[in-house]
Amino acid sequence: MATRTVLTVPTQPIAGQRPGTSGLRKKVTVFEQPGYLENFVQSIFDSLEGFAGQTLVVGGDGRYYNDRAIQTIVRMAAANGFGRVLVGQHGILSTPAASCVIRKHQAFGGIILSASHNPGGPEGDFGIKYNTGNGGPAPEKITEAIYAHTQKLGRYLTVDTPDIALGDIGECEVAGTKVIVIDSVADHAALLGTLFDFDAIRALLASGDFRLCFDAMHAVTGPYAHALIVKALGAPAASVVNGVPLSDFGGGHPDPNPTYAEELIQTMFGDDAPDFGAASDGDGDRNMIVGRRFIVTPSDSLAVLAANAHLVPAYAGGLKGLARSMPTSAAVDRVAAALGIACFETPTGWKFFGNLLDAGKITLCGEESAGTGADHVREKDGLWAVLFWLNILAVRRQSVEAIVREHWQRFGRNYYSRHDYEGVDSAAANGLMAHLHAQLASLPGQTIDGALIASADDFAYTDPVDGSVSTGQGIRIGLADGARIVFRLSGTGTEGATLRVYLERYEPDATQHAIETQQALAGLIALADRIAGIRERTGRTTPTVIT
Ligand code: G6P
Ligand code: ZN
Repeated sequence: MATRTVLTVPTQPIAGQRPGTSGLRKKVTVFEQPGYLENFVQSIFDSLEGFAGQTLVVGGDGRYYNDRAIQTIVRMAAANGFGRVLVGQHGILSTPAASCVIRKHQAFGGIILSASHNPGGPEGDFGIKYNTGNGGPAPEKITEAIYAHTQKLGRYLTVDTPDIALGDIGECEVAGTKVIVIDSVADHAALLGTLFDFDAIRALLASGDFRLCFDAMHAVTGPYAHALIVKALGAPAASVVNGVPLSDFGGGHPDPNPTYAEELIQTMFGDDAPDFGAASDGDGDRNMIVGRRFIVTPSDSLAVLAANAHLVPAYAGGLKGLARSMPTSAAVDRVAAALGIACFETPTGWKFFGNLLDAGKITLCGEESAGTGADHVREKDGLWAVLFWLNILAVRRQSVEAIVREHWQRFGRNYYSRHDYEGVDSAAANGLMAHLHAQLASLPGQTIDGALIASADDFAYTDPVDGSVSTGQGIRIGLADGARIVFRLSGTGTEGATLRVYLERYEPDATQHAIETQQALAGLIALADRIAGIRERTGRTTPTVIT
């Protein structure tokens, strides 16, 4: 190996570098402070063993600061002794694509730069997370070890080399480490091409009576959607909107929910609405599915995918098991029961699915936060979900709405909604959670506003594969009739606190499936406020976002 002239730069621990639900997320201005990124990256490397000469994958969602961060990471990876670094062209790798590349090229791990659906730009958010060799987000054991290193770090290693040319696919060398700039899309698109019935989808798109709209929200999925939906499947180029990635996402909030993806909602509820609409988020792992004048909730989407998996070539042989995060509705549990397979309930955070996928216990999994995925990678995968839906539509030739309504008829409907209160004063939010904690023992057995409370606890999870225990994962209040309310503080925000209130009620009676969701849940919404004192404690009368 060529000689490396490694520079050892003295540094000091920086407070607050504890990874949250999905890596370390802070304002760009925080990351721009001298040593902030370097300290965290060195702490990642210091918490790992055995990577000398191995491969590291680096890429991000293209947001502001992505390219500068990548140059820093490449130099530090070289200084720390990685043998090879694979970087997405222009620094771009969607989160599922990064997972795919790590697995395909047997990398030691990868560093993904993204703050997911949070806004970007100089005043926006930035984020960084480490994924292990299975392609999945590092488990808590590793993120906690990284955090421990950030608190005692005294130096970081780098090299003094020029920037690499991120725009040019090809190889170069940085202080003895081979750096390969790879096509950002090719590996992931090829993998997705092996899972679905592209011929059937092509035929649907060529039939003349099916139109779709994919909104990339000026985030990372534009190039992926062009390659798959337009080039491989033959949809008109205009089917992909906001398809050019911008470093500030065009000033938008690239979160595919009915509030932030309002342009798509307008299209799908307009006079000339297409048959199928979908959107993805900043880093391409989330998805929203919309039919003509009909929004599919993420929890229902997961259940529908599971119930129709036999129509998709990759899953026609059967599913090993299913999993959802605790706050996700139990709609998928009913599908698992009908299929006679296990359904696991994990804490919020995709990292908790990793062990179940690696151990072959599950094939599909998903979360209420607009994430669905499978065992092909170890991240949730927005375009995978879109292709899955297109595959189902191509075979069933029914509308999205008809498919979901038939699903409810067969399995019953889990009325479900999440109410977010964003940017709440942290002390008020912590006070609210403490107030709930204090009531856990006394709530069961009480009847409040006519609702008998059957259970109340703080969700804890024991991983069935490695036995690790995660506590404090959300307050659950169960009613005697099976309805439930869950309270959590988000682990992905960067400003104040975000209180999430999850509401769910099961309705088996098909004549009762057409009630407007907020109306169907009105009693639970009032009860949540009564128990937690949301208005009084946060000063908010309405949620910021309702999904
Ligand atoms: C990210 C994670 C998901 C998680 C979501 C919401 O997208 O990858 O696994 O469900 O954030 O997390 P939060 O802590 O903000 O509710
Ligand atoms: Zn994301």
